[in-house]
Order: sequence, then structure tokens, then C-alpha cells
Amino acid sequence: MHPCPQRRPAIIRHLLIGRARFHFFGRDGFLSIVVQSFCLVGCLSPAHADEATSADSRAKPQVYMGRRIAPTMSYSGANWLTRETRTREENPEKLLKALSLKPGQTICDFGCGNGYYTIRLAKRLGPQGTVYAVDIQPEMLDLLARAVKPRGLKNVKPVLATEKDPGLPPGAFDMVLMVDVYHELSDPAGALATVRKSLKPEGRLVLVEFREEDPTVPILPLHKMSQAQVMKEITANGFKLVAQFDDLPWQHVLGFARDDSPLKAIELKPWQPVEKAN
Ligand SMILES: C[S@@+](CC[C@H](N)C(=O)[O-])C[C@H]1O[C@@H](n2cnc3c(N)ncnc32)[C@H](O)[C@@H]1O
Repeated sequence: MHPCPQRRPAIIRHLLIGRARFHFFGRDGFLSIVVQSFCLVGCLSPAHADEATSADSRAKPQVYMGRRIAPTMSYSGANWLTRETRTREENPEKLLKALSLKPGQTICDFGCGNGYYTIRLAKRLGPQGTVYAVDIQPEMLDLLARAVKPRGLKNVKPVLATEKDPGLPPGAFDMVLMVDVYHELSDPAGALATVRKSLKPEGRLVLVEFREEDPTVPILPLHKMSQAQVMKEITANGFKLVAQFDDLPWQHVLGFARDDSPLKAIELKPWQPVEKAN
């Protein structure tokens, strides 16, 4: 089972979360390293440091359409993105299969981090395809480059974005994939406007987010999203739902197209817990 602060005695939980609240998600290297050492002994992972916020966002919590925006996950916690248990928790191969990728496509891994999905996408798209690996932290792109080089992948194009400008070319993408990213965008409407322009008419924006409705997913609430909230925010920004995949261990997968796309809109099927046979 994944380590989780909820399972620790209250006082330790309090200490861990209290420390993390001040430092963990900030991009300040030193303070993050202080908390990193707590993580090593305390098993506090970025996505579990729910209440962890930078000093700035504590002063003025950012809210979008009724949802508190999570702070940016610092590069100093990037090891968490390549943790051993991730395959079991997220089943990336199942996700990639569900995305029906085709060799030669152009895909954007938006908020790529250290490249956990970028590498898998690049392998699937082959030499004729391209993965734009976009992130706002140069350190994440450095880590990505270190992962890409030894694998000899020539089809990864790193893009250093800013919070205001993701730097995406218009009409370019068959898919923009955001895995565990959307909930931490500081300017969701601005990012969605650029993503919308960057999609081909039949291109899709795919959001993969930890299920808020599911109490068995041991990720703290600030880092989860409900289907209803995703639908509310994305459809308000010129998109329609065109695909849904509910078969991952912990995450929702919702696919959207531009509202003027020839792709057919579908009805959302509300997520239901799977009955476990005993
Ligand atoms: C939780 S990590 C997920 C990384 C990767 N998608 C994965 O699943 O391994 C979120 C990433 O999104 C990036 N990010 C946050 N806001 C962003 C923005 N406005 N534009 C691009 N990347 C952003 C962060 O820097 C961080 O690397």
C-alpha cells in the first residue's frame, strides 16, 4: 500500500504536513531539500502533501470555478514521479493503449515533469512522430533530457513554458495530454485557450486526474479532481467531451475536443466504484 500521511499517528501527520505546508511545493531549492529529507524518513510524497503550499499561495489561495488550485510540484520531488509503485498505481500501459496512439502523430505532453510519459509516448509514436514535452520548470526539462538521451529518442522536443504562455504552435497537435497537471495550472482559462488553438480539428485534450469521488485513492484532496469539476471547467472553455475511460486503478481519463470539432460529443457516465468480489 502506498505510504500516506493519513495512516500515521496524528501528531506525526501534523508535523509532516505542517513542515511541508511551508516549504514543499515552493520552487526554493534549499527549503525543498529540507522537506525532502523529511520525506525520506517520513514517506511524505508530493501528491500526499495536500496542504503544502508556497508562502505566496498561502497568502492568497487561488481559486478557479470553486476549486482551490494546487501549487506547482517542485522539481526537487521529481523522484516521486518515477517511483517504483507508479506502474501498479497508474497502469501507464493501459492508459497509453486507451489513448489509441498512432505512429507519426504529434502529441504534447503538457506538464511533462521528468518525462515519465514523454518517453513512453515517444517510443509509441516512432521516428516519424513528435512529442512536445512542455514544462515551466527548466530543472524538470534537464531531468527529462537526462532520461531521453541514453534512450536515443530523437523525436522529443522540449519546450520551456511560462505560466502565461505554454508556447504551443497553433493547429499542431493530435493530442494534448495532461497527466496529474491540470489541477495545478495557475491560469486554467489562459492555458485552455492556448491548448484549444493548438489542437487540430480532430485533436483531443486528455486529462488524467486522481479520482476525488473515490475514497480508496490515497491522494489528498487538493491533488484530486471530480468528474463534475473537470466537466464544468473544461466545457466552459470551448471544449466538448468526446471520450471517457474509467478503467485505471486511481485516475479518471476524460478526452475533450474543440467545441467546433467534427468529433461527436458523448454523455458523461458518472464514475461508479467497482464491486469487488469477496
Ligand atoms: C505532478 S507533475 C506531473 C508530471 C508528469 N505529467 C507526470 O505525470 O509524470 C506536474 C507538472 O506540471 C508542471 N506544470 C505546472 N504548471 C504548468 C504550466 N502552467 N505549464 C506547463 N507545465 C506546468 C509542473 O512543473 C510539473 O512538472
